[in-house]
Amino acid sequence: MLKVGLLGAGRIAGVHAIAISSNTGSTLAAVSDYFPENAEKLAAQYGSAARSTEDIIADDSIDAVLIATSTDTHSDLIEAATQAGKAVLCEKPVDLSLDRARACQKVADKTGKPVMIGFNRRFDPNFGALKVALKAGEIGKPELLAITSFDPAPPPVEYIKVSGGLFRDMMIHDFDMSSFIMGEAPVSVMAAGSSIVDPEIGAAGDVDTAVVTMTYADGRIAVIKNSRRAVYGYDQRVELLGSEGLLQAQNMLENTVVKSTADGVTGAKPTYFFLERYMPAYSAEWNAFVEAVNSGAPMPVTLADGITALAMAEAATRSAQTGSPVRLEDV
Ligand SMILES: NC(=O)c1ccc[n+]([C@@H]2O[C@H](COP(=O)([O-])OP(=O)(O)OC[C@H]3O[C@@H](n4cnc5c(N)ncnc54)[C@H](O)[C@@H]3O)[C@@H](O)[C@H]2O)c1
Repeated sequence: MLKVGLLGAGRIAGVHAIAISSNTGSTLAAVSDYFPENAEKLAAQYGSAARSTEDIIADDSIDAVLIATSTDTHSDLIEAATQAGKAVLCEKPVDLSLDRARACQKVADKTGKPVMIGFNRRFDPNFGALKVALKAGEIGKPELLAITSFDPAPPPVEYIKVSGGLFRDMMIHDFDMSSFIMGEAPVSVMAAGSSIVDPEIGAAGDVDTAVVTMTYADGRIAVIKNSRRAVYGYDQRVELLGSEGLLQAQNMLENTVVKSTADGVTGAKPTYFFLERYMPAYSAEWNAFVEAVNSGAPMPVTLADGITALAMAEAATRSAQTGSPVRLEDV
């Protein structure tokens, strides 16, 4: 039985607590939060104990930690937990700073302890099925990838100010998805960003609408579209054109009812947001982590994958600011 400490008791920690306690091979041994009352509340729901982050990391009976704290704490906690001999699943992104993330990787690598980064979308059954079909050669050689990722509504500006910006906070998922599907990182990144949804986001120095075009060494192309607002719900689609066909992963809908009348044909909206859409993916992600820790197999998503996605976000941020393409090797 894997004894797990959950660091952070906020929004996403609540989701992970469900996954940890639902897996018959793991148990939620302790929960911490910067605000102890948050930890107590979450721990109580699962018959777990609220403790300090330092206590959990120092406890040799705890085998693994799941880091679900604010992004600016991730590198420090990955280092501390791996140095204390624990396996780690850490939420995305690895850090707000690419240099800090790279330094963290060196420290974690030295310990030899496994670290997985929480790119949960790799475990979404739809995107997973698309990847299986691609690998089976069903559309030949992939040539053009298009990822659409729109949130239903923007977060508060207070969140935007500490998020690291759209490319590091939001599009990071799509950067990782592009690497997952294309099997490698691009050589060049070109970005355009704008704050047309909420001018306050622009005033805070961020964008809320962005398009990124990436080119690969062999000439393949990927396009990512992000918006912080889609009034019809969480729009999460992937389309891949290959030499022998097209693969499309469509949205999950609130229900499958389609109404056809003399006025037209209507259907349900996409599920509202990430908690609704990706709940099965968060569980599958945790199950894959437990399996890899127990079997000693490589982590299905590595710290290096997290740093590659962060480098792509850094390149996109620079490109959007300068209007010029940025080569990945230059960041
Ligand atoms: N994979 C996903 O789909 C997904 C979704 C949402 C958030 N996230 C990521 O998860 C992380 C947390 O996001 P959230 O939305 O849950 O934020 P949140 O603000 O709701 O929760 C973060 C919690 O961490 C606590 N915290 C901060 N420093 C701490 C420390 N040193 N020890 C213990 N607790 C500490 C805060 O008090 C807060 O309760 C972010 O990095 C975010 O990017 C990922």
